[in-house]
Amino acid sequence: MPKALPPKVLFIYYSFSGQTNGLLNHLAIGLRQEGVEVVMEKLRPLKPLRFPVGNIPQTLIMMLTTFFRARTPLQPRSKLINKKYNLIILAGPTWSYNPSGPILSLMDQDGEALFRDQKILPVISCRGYWRMHWYGLRKKLFKCGGQVPNHIVFSHPSKEPWRTIGVFLKIAGKAPERLRIFGKFYQRYGHSKIQLEEAEKFGALIGQTLKENKDLAAINFHTDIALP
Ligand SMILES: Cc1cc2nc3c(=O)[nH]c(=O)nc-3n(C[C@H](O)[C@H](O)[C@H](O)COP(=O)(O)O)c2cc1C
Repeated sequence: MPKALPPKVLFIYYSFSGQTNGLLNHLAIGLRQEGVEVVMEKLRPLKPLRFPVGNIPQTLIMMLTTFFRARTPLQPRSKLINKKYNLIILAGPTWSYNPSGPILSLMDQDGEALFRDQKILPVISCRGYWRMHWYGLRKKLFKCGGQVPNHIVFSHPSKEPWRTIGVFLKIAGKAPERLRIFGKFYQRYGHSKIQLEEAEKFGALIGQTLKENKDLAAINFHTDIALP
């Protein structure tokens, strides 16, 4: 009997400060362990965005414009994303309660062409406030004719209010984790090592589910590690 071809998964993603990137690298390790073929396509802004932004006024402007869902124009996409995949993982950070500018641009430009009749698993990296982003993105994907059986969210494990202030300072180009008093409450920006390990486990679970042709909706991604 001919051997079944391995499932193929396309990652379409944007990452500003490397957090989504880290999660996806680990998801990919888990998927590849299960024999899944992974293709990665990073969205590249026409005018590259610099992380950190570098100062407080520019950071405030970025927060405000992204609250009003400012789009980030993109470079032309590669041919890889025109092929057929068993699953598309659409990943990126939350920006002011919304999907990031590059993902919004992609949805405007290519949403229908890419996602119609496709199975899509959104992956969100955020400091902690992701629901509006998720509901908005799911609505857009449904409108394009996509199927969205599940979603993955990872939020930063630091406690509030340090997490919000820490993210703001980090984007502005400061090193909040090194500040004398603040640093006691805020040890690091972004996701933890155990969250990356969790992403790897999620990758393996997705791989098994695809191989067995089962429903991704049955996986519980809302664990205490992903969403502490
Ligand atoms: C302009 C901007 C706005 C943000 N707004 C939110 C937000 O509304 N909710 C949230 O949880 N995180 C917010 N964040 C934090 C990012 O979602 C978080 O740091 C994420 O892990 C970054 O992922 P990335 O490194 O892949 O870009 C914001 C970050 C930026 C740069």
